[in-house]
Amino acid sequence: MAKPQLSWLYSFALFLTVSCQIIKAHIPDESRLKSGVYLSPEFDMNPGSVVNRFYYNIDFPKGHIGIKSFYAEVVDEGGVPVTLKDTYLHHWLVVRYYARVGFEDKVLNSDPRLHQGSDFMLAGNTGVCGNLMQYFGLGSETRKTDTNVPDPYAIEVGNPAEIPKGYEERWVLNVHAIDTRGVVDRFGCTECRRSLYNTTIDEYGRYIIPDYEGGMRCCHDNTQCKVKEGVEHSLRRLYMKYTVEWFDWNESFLPVKIYIFDVTDTWKPSSKGHDCKIEYEVNPCDSSTVSSNGCIDTKRLSFKMPRGGYVVYGVAHQHAGGIGSTLYRKDGRTICSSTPTYGNGNEAGNEDGYIVGMSTCYPEPGSIKINDGETLVLESNYSSSQKHTGVMGLFYILVAEQLPMHKDISTLQSL
Ligand SMILES: *[C@@H]1O[C@H](CO)[C@@H](O)[C@H](O)[C@H]1NC(C)=O
Ligand SMILES: *[C@@H]1O[C@H](CO)[C@@H](O)[C@H](O)[C@H]1NC(C)=O
Ligand SMILES: *[C@@H]1O[C@H](CO)[C@@H](O)[C@H](O)[C@H]1NC(C)=O
Repeated sequence: MAKPQLSWLYSFALFLTVSCQIIKAHIPDESRLKSGVYLSPEFDMNPGSVVNRFYYNIDFPKGHIGIKSFYAEVVDEGGVPVTLKDTYLHHWLVVRYYARVGFEDKVLNSDPRLHQGSDFMLAGNTGVCGNLMQYFGLGSETRKTDTNVPDPYAIEVGNPAEIPKGYEERWVLNVHAIDTRGVVDRFGCTECRRSLYNTTIDEYGRYIIPDYEGGMRCCHDNTQCKVKEGVEHSLRRLYMKYTVEWFDWNESFLPVKIYIFDVTDTWKPSSKGHDCKIEYEVNPCDSSTVSSNGCIDTKRLSFKMPRGGYVVYGVAHQHAGGIGSTLYRKDGRTICSSTPTYGNGNEAGNEDGYIVGMSTCYPEPGSIKINDGETLVLESNYSSSQKHTGVMGLFYILVAEQLPMHKDISTLQSL
């Protein structure tokens, strides 16, 4: 998928060489692309068990680099991919932080937001939700979702000029997985239905309100989803395997900013900040809510993009039941539309009934510019032919503030 962009750049470079020779399109040398494969610490699962773990200071490429892709999946002791039917991957997230040199963070085991202080500072993405600070992260769709950042862009990290003196850049990996072997209701467990879990308090020890029917508060670390009678313990040792591709940073790369939007954001023009609820419920349709298209639950958010730029990549995150999500301009023009692929088999990456991939957008360079303060609309659709709890409607975009040949945008647009 990087190919069309490259050939486009080559022909553009050629055009420039012939026509004016002022601007050069630097094409990163593919041969210098580095790649590393890493394993998280082991996590053990039994039928119906849940882990929501935070692994601090994970193995990660060092130095001032430009990340080009980030792929992750759950594997067993033999390195064999584990299916979603056995281990449902609710989500994994990778968040950057700065730790004071010498600070022992291996002992931390909860949400990184709780640890902020003088030894530990989060260095999250550019916006807009204060509780969605990850650089990378996906869920069940992880195996078939393209994460490649197109040339000549890259996600810049490890820039010594940005790391506070006396600190070092580190990364925390959050893995939330639900073992659904032998459970009474597989999709109920993956949607964290309250009635299936053995807890009355959330991860912070607060009582779960009576009308909360399901979601993350019920399926936190060390909770248990109901298994069928007679199902025995059967311990499985698992790992997150993640593969990072990067280049050593070079002036010829253009950095991109990461924005994550959440359809449950309560933002209003009068609000100071964003309050992203992350999860929501989809109620089953009845004769009064069924639309001409059938049973579709549509949730919309209108918000202001703090700072603009050129969109170079976009992807949505939805849970099972999701049927697509789109980021629009106020006038209805589409910026990016991302739709799920459902599996139809048994093997890892094609599990029947699960979202195994989300389509992505790679707009032609320079073709989609968002202006500073522009109002955008995020829409997330789910099938409402049955009830869903704990669903999500996130949208992740990469925005470049410069074009490869930013000195001559008019030439570019007239091509
Ligand atoms: C940056 O990358 C280009 C293309 O790969 C190379 O020609 C150039 O020498 C690199 N510059 C630095 C400072 O490494
Ligand atoms: C739920 O079950 C798990 C696994 O058996 C157990 O470790 C945990 O303490 C239980 N939680 C409650 C609140 O009973
Ligand atoms: C969502 O559903 C509505 C109909 O309710 C439709 O008009 C819209 O195009 C759909 N959007 C997406 C992103 O699928």
